[in-house]
Amino acid sequence: MATPLTPFLLISLTLALFRPSFSQKSCSGETFSQNRVYTVCNSLPQLSANLHWTYHPANSTVDVAYRAPQSADGWVAWALNPTTSGMRGAQAIFAFFDSNNAMTTITCPLPNTQPTIRNTSLSYNVYSMASEFSNNVMTIYATIELPNNKTQVNQVWQASNQFSNGLPYGHLQAGPNILSEGLLDLLSGELSSTGNSRIHLKNRHGVLNAVSWGILLPIGAIIARYLRMFKSADPAWFYLHVGCQCSAYIVGVAGWGIGIKLGNDSKGITYNSHRNIGIALFILGTLQVFALFLRPNKDHKYRLYWNIYHHLTGYTVIVLSVVNIFKGFDILEPGDKWKHAYIAIISTLAGIAAILEAVTWGIVLKRRRSVEKFQNGANGATSSYGYGGGANQGA
Ligand SMILES: *[C@@H]1O[C@H](CO)[C@@H](O)[C@H](O)[C@H]1NC(C)=O
Ligand SMILES: *[C@@H]1O[C@H](CO)[C@@H](O)[C@H](O)[C@H]1NC(C)=O
Ligand SMILES: *[C@@H]1O[C@H](CO)[C@@H](O)[C@H](O)[C@H]1NC(C)=O
Repeated sequence: MATPLTPFLLISLTLALFRPSFSQKSCSGETFSQNRVYTVCNSLPQLSANLHWTYHPANSTVDVAYRAPQSADGWVAWALNPTTSGMRGAQAIFAFFDSNNAMTTITCPLPNTQPTIRNTSLSYNVYSMASEFSNNVMTIYATIELPNNKTQVNQVWQASNQFSNGLPYGHLQAGPNILSEGLLDLLSGELSSTGNSRIHLKNRHGVLNAVSWGILLPIGAIIARYLRMFKSADPAWFYLHVGCQCSAYIVGVAGWGIGIKLGNDSKGITYNSHRNIGIALFILGTLQVFALFLRPNKDHKYRLYWNIYHHLTGYTVIVLSVVNIFKGFDILEPGDKWKHAYIAIISTLAGIAAILEAVTWGIVLKRRRSVEKFQNGANGATSSYGYGGGANQGA
């Protein structure tokens, strides 16, 4: 049985393609007011932001300049997170125009994912701070004490046009705005998302679920529906179908578990419909697997009801999976190429299913006609197709 290999091939291939890539060093030409210079710079992987810094090991301080595109009616923020990764616990510096139309810089720790922003001191010292705006670019300058003398710190950064009472308030909950985090290594000058397992987890969640629920399950359904028409494929189609769906279920549950973890880790931000559909899928998928053990013999009078149940649940799972994968694309915004690739795959599968459906009906009608001819119009023609379970349903 070759099927169990297929998902792993698909997954490793996709994981290899899905690594976030950092385009570095587009920052090196940038210059700063007051002859400020920095020893290292890096282009951050989201929101077109750049970070420049000079690290002083002697007193464990760092001078930073954070620069990002922003219009005059928006705000930018940059933060280190001394305790964990992501937004919760981050110590943020905000820059924006205040009500007097003066560029202002404030600090605020972010205790949760829906904080009220007001000028509050951070958990570490900020020795100096400034910000400026020109040509739709905002720059934050700061000299800070590194928390616990760390040289590797998680950072998050953000941009938004939302304000409340003249202070920054909220940002988009999708795409680059939820991926703008990573590990900053002050010594090596490297940025990475290692140590920032959340971005890896988000990508893994997307890939595992798209491959399992979104691709393998429909393939397994196509195998069951169309292969069994061919007598020579009996009972191979059955094992292929079970192998495909069980692999999809195992991989899918792994992806689902990551999704639940991601949801629990980001308290305050809940993607309700994506989450609820995900939970429904897990329940229905699990029922499908356990229903396999309750499958009556093919001559049993309840087999018909089991078949109806199995088909309804199966098709519901496939439709909900595809819907939820598109909802996931809207949340993660992994880039158009991923969405287009998935659309191409799922449309190809749909096209194949449509062609096989036509071929199958051709065969069914032909068989029915020859049976009718043989029985001379007697009322004995049964379809070998559909909920009836199939004459040649194996195993
Ligand atoms: C830290 O040390 C650097 C030189 O190593 C110095 O320029 C800077 O003023 C010091 N900063 C503080 C806050 O003491
Ligand atoms: C923010 O608070 C600090 C210290 O409390 C103060 O020095 C600074 O002027 C305040 N900034 C603004 C913009 O309110
Ligand atoms: C950080 O390093 C400085 C200078 O080496 C030292 O004086 C200070 O105690 C250290 N702080 C912590 C929290 O380790």
